[in-house]
Amino acid sequence: MTLVNRSLITIDDLSYGEIEALFKLADEMAGAMDEQHGLCRGKIMASLFFEPSTRTRLSFETAMHRLGGNVITAADVGATSLAKGESIADMAKVVGSYVDMIVIRHPWEGAAKVVADYSGVPVINAGDGGHQHPTQTLLDLYTIKKEKKTLKGLKIGLWGDLKYGRTIHSLIFALAKFGANILFYPTPGLEVPEHILEKLTLEYGGELEKHKSLDPAAKEKLFPLDAIYLTPSSPHQLAMMPDVNIQVELKTGIDALYVTRPQKERFTTAEKGKELREKYPVVDKKLLKSKEFRRTLVMHPLPRVDELARELDADPRSMYFKQAARGVPVRMALIALLLGAKDVAIPQEKAPPITYPVYRRDYGPRCPNPRCVSVQETEVKYVRPEFKVVNRRPLTLRCIYCEHGFEPEYVASSDWHEGKTATKKYHSAASHWARKIRTENLIVFRSNKDAESLGFKPSRYVKVRHRRKGTPK
Ligand code: NCD
Repeated sequence: MTLVNRSLITIDDLSYGEIEALFKLADEMAGAMDEQHGLCRGKIMASLFFEPSTRTRLSFETAMHRLGGNVITAADVGATSLAKGESIADMAKVVGSYVDMIVIRHPWEGAAKVVADYSGVPVINAGDGGHQHPTQTLLDLYTIKKEKKTLKGLKIGLWGDLKYGRTIHSLIFALAKFGANILFYPTPGLEVPEHILEKLTLEYGGELEKHKSLDPAAKEKLFPLDAIYLTPSSPHQLAMMPDVNIQVELKTGIDALYVTRPQKERFTTAEKGKELREKYPVVDKKLLKSKEFRRTLVMHPLPRVDELARELDADPRSMYFKQAARGVPVRMALIALLLGAKDVAIPQEKAPPITYPVYRRDYGPRCPNPRCVSVQETEVKYVRPEFKVVNRRPLTLRCIYCEHGFEPEYVASSDWHEGKTATKKYHSAASHWARKIRTENLIVFRSNKDAESLGFKPSRYVKVRHRRKGTPK
């Protein structure tokens, strides 16, 4: 197995073994930073940053320079033809014809995937809206592993804006991949989106305990702990834990607390109005005094605003500047592997990656996420809506660009009715009739209006309602 010519769009693009191999190479490079400049000589990397960045852009560019390669950069949409209405797909084709690799940050979720689809060169996602930021996750994991030796069975607390924090979204899956338990401490109103939690348990196994106040005693110092993810790979006290035991278990210590700033640039008008900022307590020495934080690594992707007190900078538990520094060797290893300048032995994975049937039609639903690249006006000509059918009961589709999921209300079958307009019928997706439709024949509709505008008529199974989660059978 090799990483040559691959792209890194979400953290799922790398297996456990590949990440381990990458870390080994990062270690080697970190120990001999000045000896790597022959590796990528003659190679060019485009660094396209259409959202603010200090660390990510500069550490990628430093990494490429240290490998002896060259960098071209565009850091302002206004200075590129995107401002003239050029599509990301066209830009990707052009830039891909100039360089050997593209690193892109963009506000639209799924933008990096479009670049990977059209550029013909390896692409690294340096942050696509609130979706993912896989290289930040690599250096976060690398840091935890360096400090704690392993990730297996650790308890990692995620704190703050868990709704829009893309570093959080990538980190959740990586922690699960490495067998860590996750404690969720969201700012009230900024909880982890449901589609991410669903993917977590569906694809990584484990259990999610969700309660309003799992840890009520901690309320005055922390955001309330609103959920715990229990890894399947390390049988642990936590796994058998009824709520009462949680506090006892937490007293044994949290291994890392990953703090994030409120991602105000992504707040809706309503969220801005709610002054979520006011509810953002500061992580400081006082908070970290209690027993469970005695050996806790204090992490942050940076930039911090007010949520992390400066008095912690000299505290040996603080990791955030180390994290940022480690971004260089980790990104050097990644670039060298994707460009084929280095090869590493990658162990064969035990479990094959999960594959889902794909839903792709010329007409039909668009992704419900307004920030998804597939619904942006300049992109709709190039980016065809495409979904993975991740569940049949309830029928659930997941956008291949931004990974938002949705449960369509109505369905029809291409097999039963194709060509016979008089009998084109649509059914409630929750009806037993709908479940008889083979996945490859599915046609889905977000509303009955959509179905009827395509010439489908309601069947007698159209009124069956979805049973909402938690309602009695
Ligand atoms: C993060 C990002 O851009 O998502 N920063 C980074 O890359 N180090 C976190 C943030 O902006 O809050």
